[in-house]
Amino acid sequence: MIAPGKSIKGWYVASPAIELINVSLVFNGRETVLENINLKVETGEKLVVIGPSGEGKSVLLKIIGGILPPTSGEVLIQGQNINKISSTQRDKILRKMGMLFQKNALFDSLTSAENIAFPMREVLGIDEKEIAIKVDQFLEAVAIPHAKNLYPDEISGGMQKRLGIARALALNPEIILYDDPTAGLDPITSRMIIQLIKDLQKQRNSTLVAITNDMMRAYQMADRIAMVVDRELIITGNETQTKNSKDPRVHQFIRGQLEGPLTESP
Ligand SMILES: Nc1ncnc2c1ncn2[C@@H]1O[C@H](COP(=O)(O)OP(=O)(O)OP(=O)(O)O)[C@@H](O)[C@H]1O
Ligand SMILES: [Mg+2]
Repeated sequence: MIAPGKSIKGWYVASPAIELINVSLVFNGRETVLENINLKVETGEKLVVIGPSGEGKSVLLKIIGGILPPTSGEVLIQGQNINKISSTQRDKILRKMGMLFQKNALFDSLTSAENIAFPMREVLGIDEKEIAIKVDQFLEAVAIPHAKNLYPDEISGGMQKRLGIARALALNPEIILYDDPTAGLDPITSRMIIQLIKDLQKQRNSTLVAITNDMMRAYQMADRIAMVVDRELIITGNETQTKNSKDPRVHQFIRGQLEGPLTESP
């Protein structure tokens, strides 16, 4: 077997962007949210995670993003186990990732421009003039230049999402994690946000993991879909494979049916 990341006879075998090996997460020593999850996401791939509320989608994303360490198992980012390497190496790897949190996690006391500038100031070590130019470019890229000097609670929900996306992209991440990027948005704004996410992903050939329960948007965005349910991660495949899934939980969920295994009392 060829070790990932090693070259053999001139061929370079790249590690997957993200790899989870037997990952489990137990809260407070008793609530098992995820059990023995295995997943590989290749560089440049777009994976969409779906699943009923409260089953562990956000937890999964936080484990990938290095925010929550798993109770057991390994999280490899570009081949490196982020919970075993030195903190300097870990910071280096985590900087390659950007995240949009479910509730945006914007700083309320900072303007839109300052929200985007914040991670740049912390990490990039570039001067204020350069930061200001980049901030303008990001505001332009997500089409909210007019929100520059407004605070998060002075802009609409859709604009807050765009701002969250801009901040997640501020460090030009190779891997981008979006938690419910269209939550609470109208269907047209949702569609535009997903198109924006796809355009930005394509420009950078970044790896993307996004959570959504809006199946139309999931199909619009995904190369592959996976569902979190009953502590498992079911890889359902591309749009056609997902629609034809024989798993009764997937079948019920993607059609939003009231009757089925997901709504039966235990
Ligand atoms: N820090 C935490 N401490 C204890 N329990 C937690 C913590 N974070 C999440 N949980 C629990 O883990 C489970 C999964 O939560 P998670 O937020 O991942 O759900 P979700 O699938 O993202 O749901 P939704 O679709 O509503 O966003 C829930 O039971 C939640 O209460
Ligand atoms: Mg969630």
